[in-house]
Amino acid sequence: MELSNILSWTFAYDFVRGPMVWIAFIIFILGTVFQIFRFFSLSHKPEKITLQPGPGNFIKPLPKEPQKTDWMVWLKLSVAGTNPFVIIVSTLFHVLLVLLPFFVLGHNILWDNAFGISMVSLPEGIADIATVIVIICGLIFLYRRLFLDRVRAITTWTDYLFLFLAAAPFITGYFAYNQMILDYKLMITLHMLSGEIMLMAIPFTKFVHMIYLVLVRFTVASEWGLGKGNRAW
Ligand code: HEM
Ligand code: HEM
Repeated sequence: MELSNILSWTFAYDFVRGPMVWIAFIIFILGTVFQIFRFFSLSHKPEKITLQPGPGNFIKPLPKEPQKTDWMVWLKLSVAGTNPFVIIVSTLFHVLLVLLPFFVLGHNILWDNAFGISMVSLPEGIADIATVIVIICGLIFLYRRLFLDRVRAITTWTDYLFLFLAAAPFITGYFAYNQMILDYKLMITLHMLSGEIMLMAIPFTKFVHMIYLVLVRFTVASEWGLGKGNRAW
């Protein structure tokens, strides 16, 4: 390799593992705060509707809302009852996607080096298996988008792109940890870069569902709402 190539490659490596990590985290945090403010500026407190009884017109009491007491019926009527397999795959995918990065030993070593703090780490073998599970879940999503007519009908190229962006840190993390293909330094650079891109993309792309899905469910009154419903669009 020529000297200039070596120098620019070393610069890229140092940049991706140094300043770029900060840039990615700052964009992620500021973007998230921006989206939370945006949500509250786009939504408002629901108006109170008071009906005035007119001549010959009286307010009938509304029928009581069905209570969600029978959980089995409620679950059966939800998407979990219609397609339990996808719900299991999706739950596994999301839980591991969100939690795994906090418990990977490689990450905790970095936190420890930078700030002297770190979380408990999963045994490496378990983290590695969990990484493979995320990749398999991603492949199941890909299969559905490619081969199930009803899923393909609502799929555009951006869905493939975001599926890839979400899976990329896991694929590259797996290859780096197991030192399987390419040079370790190149693979870990790709890993850090893909992780950074994913983090920065969360507040500004369809990954924003991580923020909005939670906010909306707990604030806006709707069929599947979980909170008091004290906001409206
Ligand atoms: C933001 C910058 C990031 C840096 C600097 C970073 C750095 C690292 C390092 C040094 C390792 C250890 C590799 C080894 O053991 O040789 C690792 C592994 C891993 N990273 Fe990251 N990472 C980043 C972002 C992410 C993100 C966003 C995710 C997922 C959402 C992720 C998921 C993983 C996983 C699952 C592994 C373990 C792979 C395995 O054991 O099979 N990383 N990362
Ligand atoms: C904790 C917050 C999150 C919640 C509540 C959530 C919820 C959902 C829901 C309800 C769906 C649609 C149904 C499904 O395909 O399972 C979905 C799909 C998806 N989510 Fe999330 N999500 C969260 C975080 C994330 C994050 C952080 C990422 C990646 C950066 C992500 C990536 C995806 C992808 C790629 C899909 C589409 C899968 C496909 O191709 O069908 N999610 N999410």
